[in-house]
Amino acid sequence: MAVQYRVLLLSLPLLQIVCLDLGFPANEYEYSVKRDSLREKEKQFAGESLAMSEDEQIADRYLQLLKRQEFKATRKTGFPPSRPLEETLDTIVHSDVYRVLKMLPKGGLLHSHENHQLSRSILVDIVWNCSDFQHLYILPENHPTDPWTLDFFISPPPGEGWEKVKGHPNYTKEVILQRQTLLGVLTERARRYPSDAAERWRQMDPLWRRSASQLIANVVVKRLYLAAMWREVLTDGVQYIETRKNLGPGTHQLYSLDTHRKYEPTYGKHYLDPSGELDINMTQLLLREFQKRRPDFIGFRRITYGHHQESVSQMKAKMHLSSCTTRRRAAETNWPDDLMTSFEPEVDISTTQDNSLDAVLLGVSRVGHGLGFIKRPYLLKLLKQRRVAIETCPTSNHLLGYIPDLRNHPAVHYIRSGIPVVLASDDPGSFGYDHVTVDWYQAFMAWGLRLADLKLLALNSLRHSGMSASKYVLPSI
Ligand SMILES: *[C@@H]1O[C@H](CO)[C@@H](O)[C@H](O)[C@H]1NC(C)=O
Ligand SMILES: *[C@@H]1O[C@H](CO)[C@@H](O)[C@H](O)[C@H]1NC(C)=O
Ligand SMILES: *[C@@H]1O[C@H](CO)[C@@H](O)[C@H](O)[C@H]1NC(C)=O
Repeated sequence: MAVQYRVLLLSLPLLQIVCLDLGFPANEYEYSVKRDSLREKEKQFAGESLAMSEDEQIADRYLQLLKRQEFKATRKTGFPPSRPLEETLDTIVHSDVYRVLKMLPKGGLLHSHENHQLSRSILVDIVWNCSDFQHLYILPENHPTDPWTLDFFISPPPGEGWEKVKGHPNYTKEVILQRQTLLGVLTERARRYPSDAAERWRQMDPLWRRSASQLIANVVVKRLYLAAMWREVLTDGVQYIETRKNLGPGTHQLYSLDTHRKYEPTYGKHYLDPSGELDINMTQLLLREFQKRRPDFIGFRRITYGHHQESVSQMKAKMHLSSCTTRRRAAETNWPDDLMTSFEPEVDISTTQDNSLDAVLLGVSRVGHGLGFIKRPYLLKLLKQRRVAIETCPTSNHLLGYIPDLRNHPAVHYIRSGIPVVLASDDPGSFGYDHVTVDWYQAFMAWGLRLADLKLLALNSLRHSGMSASKYVLPSI
């Protein structure tokens, strides 16, 4: 054994233990000069190279002080980024750091799903207050496939078990609301194994339908929903939002309730918008009205998206596009590359892993999530060269079990490598944490960021948005 050990040691290349670039410092002075130059090199990759005004420097020191106090107070009892959100959300939203970060201008929110963005508690209020509330129905708790699902009908489809909500003693607003968010329904098993992504998805999957598209597609609700969503992101310091949403036929198609016999086959739903055009027109009108009241809201864009596992090349071929700005979910999760194959190989041959190649080759402007890029340093280098932004959704990754300890989130590596990262919230309404400031809190507390880094994240979110550059003015970096 001893002999083998020596042989092994001798065969190690000596280079590994000699620091070639820097050499060993000859004396204490040289050591400290080299130390400073290392520090300077590191700074070039982070927000620290941003010019900060005197006021910003004061705010930076104040935030660092609050951060340190919060760290001291929670280190022994449970540092929030290292603990499951279901146990820390209350501490987070009542903290001083959170209070200050909420006021911070955050630029744009670039990765959000329209029907899952707004707090379910506000959505439920809108539905309860609206003129169609008397036509709200629910599938009961013991329904085999879709318990607690809400929908509007003049007269519900028979035989499915729909029950009228208004006046029903078992279906109070509070009881229903609790069943509409991931944080509300997390099972004991999910709580016990916060890194069991499959279990958390099992909890989340039914929620996508429960209080989303079919409720929000009611024109009466839709108008209030959009205005509330814009108002709410503004309270979080977000002045621009891009949401993902389907248009056209399906449960998301705009409808109004109508008692005319003509609409009996669709249970009283008068579908208004097979092409999705009315939805766009109505949204534009509402946005103009909203911006008259809130001129600090810069804008809103909607991104219609294709199938998850479809490659960018397939999508472009299908859409007859030779070039377009594309945003892509790529290397979305941290599942092992060799195992993350297409879910439906017969109809869709492109794997999630191949999509990260497509994303680079076909010149996407942003990638969604990008957790898996941490394992692909060569592709990461290309993303950096091509200034492709990574949309990072830390709380979503946390809640879905991919990164149960946010101190280890790969985005800090991306930020420090000089890749343009933007922070986003994904589905805060349906997850149940409601506010994008939670993502900023976690990133700020867990990744060693300072105000300059946060400023850079905000600037990235404008620079990499779909907005034309004439709509905003950025300081040069
Ligand atoms: C719903 O109505 C209540 C009572 O009238 C009101 O306080 C609340 O602001 C309304 N909420 C929404 C979202 O419309
Ligand atoms: C309310 O729930 C209880 C217990 O699950 C059940 O026994 C009762 O029949 C329900 N009430 C109505 C009106 O459905
Ligand atoms: C949407 O607006 C455009 C332009 O104003 C108009 O031509 C079109 O008819 C509208 N479509 C619908 C469905 O309202």
